[in-house]
Amino acid sequence: MTDKREYTGDYPDKKLYIPGPTEVREDVIEEMSQPMFGHRMDRMTDLYTTIVEDTKEFLGTDNDVIVLTGSGTEFWEASTLNLVEENILVPTCGSFSERHANVAERLGKDVDRLEYDWGQAIKPEDIREALETSDKHYDVVATVMNESSTGVRNPIEEIGDVVAEYPDTYFVVDAVSSLGGDYVDIDEHNIDVIFASSQKAFAMPPGLAICVVSDEAYERELEKESASWYGGFQRCLDYYDRKGQTHSTPAIPIMLAYRKQMKYMLEEGHEARDERHREMAEYTREWAREHFDTFPEEGYESQTVSCIENTQGIDVAETIEAVSEQYDYVFSNGYGSELGEKTFRIGHMGEHDLESIKALTDAIEDVAGL
Ligand SMILES: Cc1ncc(COP(=O)(O)O)c(C=O)c1O
Repeated sequence: MTDKREYTGDYPDKKLYIPGPTEVREDVIEEMSQPMFGHRMDRMTDLYTTIVEDTKEFLGTDNDVIVLTGSGTEFWEASTLNLVEENILVPTCGSFSERHANVAERLGKDVDRLEYDWGQAIKPEDIREALETSDKHYDVVATVMNESSTGVRNPIEEIGDVVAEYPDTYFVVDAVSSLGGDYVDIDEHNIDVIFASSQKAFAMPPGLAICVVSDEAYERELEKESASWYGGFQRCLDYYDRKGQTHSTPAIPIMLAYRKQMKYMLEEGHEARDERHREMAEYTREWAREHFDTFPEEGYESQTVSCIENTQGIDVAETIEAVSEQYDYVFSNGYGSELGEKTFRIGHMGEHDLESIKALTDAIEDVAGL
């Protein structure tokens, strides 16, 4: 049982280098403090159609976009309910892919895991073998793009090309901690469903989930006897088609922030944003190799979250605390009890740049005496 811990003092401002939520521009935060309006007013249509169409443009996709109140988790559930009748193949390589499998089990689906050691990446040839040799028909292959617990960036483009060889199998990608900071050509690689959360590389406040849906995935849901109501592709997309709004009352303030931030993202463009994230990731990897080591399998390191192996045996919890106290920067320990002290993680996503990442690594060097 957790006791009530009400606190009325001021919290010091801390710069976030955790794998989300991440830093949000001040004027984007300010957008949220506008007088409220009704979700069936014209103003709502102006707002929602703008964020949907701008997101399509930013991601460079012809597929449909849903922006739904909720977090990324919503689309683990909804994509499973909308597409899977019976069998789903979930390659697992860390905590979030494991949770995706767990969600599908809770929904009563028959889940086959393809298990990798944590830190290893999912290999397209293993997916091909699983699809080729199984006596089951898999409705969905569900793959995490960026395994935030281990800092692995899976080769979803190649995996998508493999799944494309199996026309009745849909490809679902959890890109919660990478979309917006690691460019993927969604339409080119047969990605039927890909989703993200607003608080990660989009650098927005938490509370919205973004999902891109292919025509085939939409059609597939229509064939099924049951599907998600709240996250139903049909319900969300048909409502958008008819009214340019959401089927139920959305988190309007967060959508206002979204509209502002997406304009910044469009201004930067996905190529430049991708390049900026690549630079931050390369720098962080080099720094990690100089002082520690990188945890993920080589060649599969994330572009948004670096997971660093604590080869020096520093006290991770103490270092995080001291950096927070002395510099007001917050980075993250390793994930769960398994990786907690063995690794630590730096989120270099959203609005960070090389300079701000260097400020953090300097602070860690100072505090840990590296
Ligand atoms: C890869 C991945 N998938 C899913 C989630 C769950 O996202 P949310 O907390 O927005 O529901 C997270 C959260 O960190 C994540 O990193």
